[in-house]
Amino acid sequence: MPGLRHIISMKELSREDIERILEKARELERFARKERSNMLEGSVLATLFYEPSTRTRLSFETAMKRLGGEVIDMVSKEVSSAAKGESLADTIRVVDKYADVIVLRHPKEGSARMAAEFSSVPIINAGDGAGHHPTQTRLDLYTIMRVSCLEGLNIALAGDLKYGRTVHSLAYALSLFGANITLVSPKQLRIPEFIKSDLRARGIGIRETESLESVMNEVDVLYVTRIQRERFPDHEEYMKVAGVYRITGKLLDGVRDNLIIMHPLPRIDEIAPDVDRTKHAKYFEQAFYGVPVRMALLSMLLEAE
Ligand code: NCD
Repeated sequence: MPGLRHIISMKELSREDIERILEKARELERFARKERSNMLEGSVLATLFYEPSTRTRLSFETAMKRLGGEVIDMVSKEVSSAAKGESLADTIRVVDKYADVIVLRHPKEGSARMAAEFSSVPIINAGDGAGHHPTQTRLDLYTIMRVSCLEGLNIALAGDLKYGRTVHSLAYALSLFGANITLVSPKQLRIPEFIKSDLRARGIGIRETESLESVMNEVDVLYVTRIQRERFPDHEEYMKVAGVYRITGKLLDGVRDNLIIMHPLPRIDEIAPDVDRTKHAKYFEQAFYGVPVRMALLSMLLEAE
């Protein structure tokens, strides 16, 4: 629908767009803690999750409620009409009559863009298969901004770079901030070629390696991801790469003093629990920052500024 602001991918965003939202999130962070606000009173958010979620769904709900808004939830595809075979397009054409904004997570790449074509209210992509996860990226950037510095980062993106939508979105955003990106993955899980060429075209430094150890001591940010078991066409193929990387306390010997370790979560075994106690671990703080960042997004989309 022309004129509507949907949040679909990270590709089309400018640095100014990103900075505006990070500033807004900083301004609203106090409402994610103790203070209360009724800024979004009278607005309704609908959450449509066709795939599991903990942080994304709950932090959207928290953001909406702490700003005085309401949330309606499809609960799960098993108890909604999706189980009877309703198409996503039809569901969207119904839910947009009930809500002012729709958060959608769906296993199919491109589903959010398709949903946007049918929706009369903004669609927020909360993950479309192995595609994008643009709100996660905003909170990742916010975390880096809050605990470190966004400009000219040396950052390693490690794990499942093929199917991991969080790293797809993040890589595009980092390219706007002059980052040097090291892509760490097994051969089978390299970032898609078209993303790499998009990044190169934006003129940023990228290198690829399979060895996590070789980059640990050189980076300011280590962004670890889960191997996306559910996206593998074949379980055997998954088993070949399951558990390839494991960050342990021991592996942190010799890292930069200011190194921060991030992870969109959930983790399986890629970060050992002994890392949680170190000053480098920022993933739980990162999960918290989902609230102010989603507050900022909602307030900007619903024009409560
Ligand atoms: C991620 C996702 O769903 O893509 N989780 C999240 O939203 N925080 C990462 C993952 O599932 O591995």
